[in-house]
Amino acid sequence: MTNLAILISGRGSNMEAILKSIKKNKMPVKPVIVISNKPDAKGVKIAQKLGVKTEVIESMGVKGASWDYDRKIISVLEKNWVTPKNGLVCLAGFMRIMSPEFIRHFKGRIMNIHPAILPSFPGLHSQKQAIDYGVMYSGCTVHFADEGIDSGPIILQAVVKVKNDDTEETLSRRILAKEHKIYPEAVRLFALGKIKIVGRKAIIS
Ligand code: GRF
Repeated sequence: MTNLAILISGRGSNMEAILKSIKKNKMPVKPVIVISNKPDAKGVKIAQKLGVKTEVIESMGVKGASWDYDRKIISVLEKNWVTPKNGLVCLAGFMRIMSPEFIRHFKGRIMNIHPAILPSFPGLHSQKQAIDYGVMYSGCTVHFADEGIDSGPIILQAVVKVKNDDTEETLSRRILAKEHKIYPEAVRLFALGKIKIVGRKAIIS
């Protein structure tokens, strides 16, 4: 059984999709804790409604990657039995950069979702970046987190066609619908032991 922690900062729609899919598809995953760095994150209430324990670790004033802050996360994870042996940490709209120490602690056990086809358009406002650049296709990527930004081994990607009249909002909405499909699927593959990291590649068997 994989003990799952989900880290959020806001809306929590990816978190919700993962939690619902775990139940529906009877995955060997136990969602043990949802952590938010923002007390007013909408996702906190959604997690509680779905019967998952939540904890807020306020990050106001903590700028950039901070091992001091991330240590607090690790202590909550440990209390909830999310460990480097049995755990999976899903970053789902968690608007903080993790410290290299945190990444190393949970090496190969941290996933992130990004609303673009990486390595294109990393960072913030990727949907707007895609429209401004004039690409015909964008989409989303689930990847393992490494010490860079949106740069770890890619697990799954889904493609969305960009329309001529797309705005940041309309494109984001269509990409989000795909995010809700590939993120739960990546969690399922991980829990079934089907993902092996070989160098830059996440190989799915
Ligand atoms: C998603 O678009 C995700 O790709 C990005 O942040 C957004 C989070 O949305 N990293 P939600 O909180 O999961 O609804």
